[in-house]
Amino acid sequence: MFGSTAIHIRTLDEIEQLRKSSLLVGETLSEVAKNIKPGVTTKYLDTIAEEFIKDNNAEPVFKGYNGYPASLCISINEVVVHGIPGNREIKEGDIISIDCGTFLNGWVGDSAYTFAVVGVSEEAKKLMKVTKESLYLGIEKCVIGNRIGDLSHKIQSYCEDYGYGVVRELCGHGVGRKMHEEPEVPNFGKAGTGIKFKEGMVIAIEPMITMHKKEVVFERDGWTCRTKDMSWAAHYEHDVAITKNDPYILSSFEKIEETIKQNNNLVIV
Ligand code: MF3
Ligand code: CO
Repeated sequence: MFGSTAIHIRTLDEIEQLRKSSLLVGETLSEVAKNIKPGVTTKYLDTIAEEFIKDNNAEPVFKGYNGYPASLCISINEVVVHGIPGNREIKEGDIISIDCGTFLNGWVGDSAYTFAVVGVSEEAKKLMKVTKESLYLGIEKCVIGNRIGDLSHKIQSYCEDYGYGVVRELCGHGVGRKMHEEPEVPNFGKAGTGIKFKEGMVIAIEPMITMHKKEVVFERDGWTCRTKDMSWAAHYEHDVAITKNDPYILSSFEKIEETIKQNNNLVIV
């Protein structure tokens, strides 16, 4: 799918290197979160991220990827993922999915979080909560001997039980030296199918969940992915290593969530 054939197995030392990049993504999203308030443009938030990443001796991995023009993907409300930063302004009640990738010392970190702006509806908060829960339920499946389909099925069934839509067009992926490596990590599928998890695999898990129908359309810019029925969507992403023991979450929402609690314009979900 992503052009390479083998699934990479990383040593513990390599996983710690990768983790540094993943943690930098969380720090970047936390910096961005400090600046979210009604009236700011998504383009402004993108400049904050790019500067912060470069100040930390890393590169924004999205910029230039297949011609993508920015350091972040900022996807508001009905936009599911891959929203290009521009002149759209943040409004009260919006939900904003921000996806960020860094290249640090040869390793890619890739993580995303959905933010709620003050005034957000209860139903949008519920969508965010369930989407984030589905990510952690998927992560729990990342143990040796389980299969990708176990994770995919868990995310799908959990979200569909709430009547939500699971986007089919885009998936999670292996992550490491490149942003997109084998294997593909769908958010839908059958338990007991797909490749088996082995110690040393590292994957990015990223449920993209809509409030109603699962169908999406891509805007003419070639990137922006929004729901066909204009219902709102949420997106969270973590990088996770399979180890001898528990799943090892390399990215972190800790700093992001500290910032949300301190920013009066944001609501913690
Ligand atoms: N996290 C997204 C993904 O894994 C981000 C890619 S955006 C791109 O596909 F612009 F860089 F493609
Ligand atoms: Co990703």
